[in-house]
Amino acid sequence: MKINDKSQYKTYLANENRYNNMLYNRSGDSGVLLPSISLGLWHNFGKYDLQANSEEILRTAFDHGITHFDLANNYGPPYGSAEVNFGVLYEQNFKSYRDELFIATKAGYDMWQGPYGNYGSRKHLIASIDQSLKRMNLEYVDVFYHHRPDVGTPLEETAVALSDIVRQGKALYIGVSNYESDQITEITKLFKELKVPFIIDQARYSMLDRKIEKEILPCLLENKLGCIAFSPLAQGMLTDKYIDGIPENSRAAKNKTYLESETVEEKLPIIKKLNNLAKERGQKLHQMAISWLLQQKGITSVLIGASSADQLIDNLKAIENNNFSEIELHQIDSLTKQFL
Ligand SMILES: NC(=O)c1ccc[n+]([C@@H]2O[C@H](COP(=O)([O-])OP(=O)(O)OC[C@H]3O[C@@H](n4cnc5c(N)ncnc54)[C@H](OP(=O)(O)O)[C@@H]3O)[C@@H](O)[C@H]2O)c1
Repeated sequence: MKINDKSQYKTYLANENRYNNMLYNRSGDSGVLLPSISLGLWHNFGKYDLQANSEEILRTAFDHGITHFDLANNYGPPYGSAEVNFGVLYEQNFKSYRDELFIATKAGYDMWQGPYGNYGSRKHLIASIDQSLKRMNLEYVDVFYHHRPDVGTPLEETAVALSDIVRQGKALYIGVSNYESDQITEITKLFKELKVPFIIDQARYSMLDRKIEKEILPCLLENKLGCIAFSPLAQGMLTDKYIDGIPENSRAAKNKTYLESETVEEKLPIIKKLNNLAKERGQKLHQMAISWLLQQKGITSVLIGASSADQLIDNLKAIENNNFSEIELHQIDSLTKQFL
């Protein structure tokens, strides 16, 4: 765009066919349907990211039926800035669509200084939800997560604080993240007593990290809870982008991310084999990685990240091919069961 461009900033009008192709799955035995693919704002929505790009990603997502956006108090960098940017973009684009959106935020990881800026105390959780709502220009979130378990705080204190947040109308539903199966079982009991609408667990799950298959997924099924799988592309490793080296601008090439180039190099032999399997299925590796998760029992939604709208559109094609032959599943198993 030139400095003397006379075209107006275009007011966003959502695609009227947005619900035609997305599939929606029930979260456990709750009333909530979530899109098979949801969008996370951990990266690419912070203070130093290009807001026009963040806006295009959000608009593209909603235009394709992605109703669920996932945030946390500390997404950025700096902490809080993804919520601030989301709040601005929400006001400009999505305010009139509020009832079509399912917005999540979280508290429990490092956020502000001092003894109350972290973990699972009543003090931290209630202060954090109030901050998040202000940053995002929202009256309530659809789901509020306890981001990680906290052995230093009695689980009952955390559960009652989350219950009060629901009673105060600041969140409609509650979720937990990064909890072990025994912690999920225990907090489920507390939430039942407190009549809290606890609907979902957010857990790391991809072909390169299958730990939740052992205890967590069976526990969620037993307790009739949904599961939303985060980092389904192992932060971009389950794409073909790293096959010929680490491209500039990729997550592994940037500072301030949790993806190390050494990790990419270590996983490359398996990534290459999985990439060949995907080609044989007529998919790209990132599409196969998402399709494979979607056919796993107990998965409600796959929570992707994207650094461009094009990536997002390409990932959405995963929904078209979630059928795997026994042979394909066996081949994927033999390459990835080491990550169980
Ligand atoms: N609860 C928790 O503790 C927790 C922890 C982590 C994440 N999460 C949630 O999960 C969400 C997703 O996590 P994630 O970002 O790690 O997910 P991911 O889907 O595994 O990785 C996303 C990254 O992969 C690359 N990518 C995506 N599609 C691509 C494509 N078609 N072609 C090439 N590269 C592609 C992009 O990185 P490039 O920059 O390299 O292009 C993108 O930013 C987060 O936003 C957050 O909401 C939750």
